Amino acid sequence: MSEQNKAANKATAPETILTGIKPTDHVHVGNYLGAIRPGLELVSQFRHSLLFIADYHALTTVQDPKELRDYTLSLAAAWIACGLDPKQTIIYRQSDVPEIFELAWVLSCVTPKGLLNRAHAYKAKLQENEAEGREDLDYGVSMGLFSYPVLMAADILLFNTDVVPVGEDQVQHVEIARDIAQKFNRIFGELIRLPKALVKTEKVVPGLDGRKMSKSYGNHIPLFLESKALRKLVMKIKTDSTPPEAPKNTKDSILFDLYKEFAAPAEIEALTARYANGVGWGEVKELLFQAIDRHFSESSRRYHELMGRPAEIEAILRDGAARARKLATPFMVNVRAAVRGGDRDTIAAHGARGKS
Ligand code: TRP
Repeated sequence: MSEQNKAANKATAPETILTGIKPTDHVHVGNYLGAIRPGLELVSQFRHSLLFIADYHALTTVQDPKELRDYTLSLAAAWIACGLDPKQTIIYRQSDVPEIFELAWVLSCVTPKGLLNRAHAYKAKLQENEAEGREDLDYGVSMGLFSYPVLMAADILLFNTDVVPVGEDQVQHVEIARDIAQKFNRIFGELIRLPKALVKTEKVVPGLDGRKMSKSYGNHIPLFLESKALRKLVMKIKTDSTPPEAPKNTKDSILFDLYKEFAAPAEIEALTARYANGVGWGEVKELLFQAIDRHFSESSRRYHELMGRPAEIEAILRDGAARARKLATPFMVNVRAAVRGGDRDTIAAHGARGKS
């Protein structure tokens, strides 16, 4: 999109976009193509954008502090290295914004338990326990897992969010956030803006074996590998045994599917022609390796530089949290006044004192 178009878009677009990412793993090429690249394009169209690392959501599964910190810093560094501008988009660590957790409690008091009983992730756990023949269907379910959607509602509602870009699997959570907001507004007055989910049809990126790229299949290409390791992985991509001179179809070719994400239009055209005339898989792999290596050379350098200076990432996240809290503070002053009564100005003065 041209700069001019971007500016025009910003003027008409809804105000605030917000999304959270759980730091439960290191990112791979599938995450980059499916979430990071389209996410960066999307946030550039909004006047206000917030992106946070949902570390306390991850706490439902990641309970090794070293791991949690590593994933958190790595995820933040990856987004920044790929082009997220912390001056434009407020990037923060969820646990650095205590107002989220205060709001989560207030919201939990207007959330019918039955609403959470119907949440997909919780229901899946119950079904799993049933299938395993366990007597206790709540086996392995923490309160954190059960009330996960309430915390997510607080993440979203605290910032007057208009649009929440999410994958298919998270749409129910955004709808729950809307329900909770409406319930709150009915009881305490119209205070909370109703958010909308923006469903991203996730691009299916093939992994080394042709199945969807996923860490759980072990068929992923990690982001920011050094060239030698990247080359070795690309050489492992599954191909058939057609001889080099045989004409090949660009459809159903893992190599081609990946190549077209990273190569320039002229290069894609050139490779299409080579497929038609017959080309050796080894040669295509070499081209793919070079295209990926080139695409990430700058961001990879930036990523490793940041990871070598974690204090710098922490400082960026702390700065983001301070800006997020500036937005959250007046909002929570109103929430407190709405639920516990009292003079808003007095509460505002108190809130201002309590602010760092
Ligand atoms: N639950 C989301 C996921 O697993 C992560 C998340 C937490 C989130 N809070 C959010 C996404 C708020 C959007 C908005 O992917």
